Parts: sequence; C-alpha cells; structure tokens
Amino acid sequence: MASVLEVCVCTVEDVPSGEGIRVDLADLPEPVAVFNDAGRFYALSDMCSHAEASLADGWIEDCQVECPLHSARFDLLTGKACSLPAILPVRAYPVTMTDGKVYVSVPTVGGT
Ligand code: FES
Repeated sequence: MASVLEVCVCTVEDVPSGEGIRVDLADLPEPVAVFNDAGRFYALSDMCSHAEASLADGWIEDCQVECPLHSARFDLLTGKACSLPAILPVRAYPVTMTDGKVYVSVPTVGGT
C-alpha cells in the first residue's frame, strides 16, 4: 500500500527569494531542488531531464526554472518541460510549510 512521507528539507530562511538549493537526504528518493519564487516554495527533481545539470543552480522567472547548462525551462509547479532542449518533465513534489520549515511529500511503498 502506498503512503506519503513528509520530509523536512530546509527552513524558509535557507532559500533566499529567487533562488534554489539542492537537498540530498536519505529519506528522499533522489536529490531535490527546493526553490523560493517570491515566497512561494516549490520542489523538483534536481537533475535536469536533458543532461546532467543541477536545476538548483538555475534561474527562476515566471514560476519557471531555467537550467544552467542549456537553458531548458521547467514549470516549478508541475515539472513540465516548457522549452527545448528538454522534452521530458522532471518530477515535481508537493511542498508544505509549517512553523518556518519546508516539507516535501514523497510517496512510499508499503507504509505501515
Ligand atoms: Fe538542462 Fe541541457 S542539461 S537543458
């Protein structure tokens, strides 16, 4: 049976507005990029779907992140590839905030 695990990935202060950070924790299925777009937080798979680049190092504009390597853009909410050369989406994770902490929801298998 699938369930969801809420993983605390950082505090709100850890991610300045307009920037992203890479988070790699044992409870996450992969490294995740956490973005602060004018106070709204988003989480995507950190690895660009085109090649090996960290999206956390990208630039944020209009609820999209631009890959630092070849400039593909991804929707911060859905992970959809919005421009070439990326075609495939990256995984988007639901984000919640409680008491100044940022949580990412990850599905688990065989929850108790
Ligand atoms: Fe991201 Fe090429 S590695 S667009």
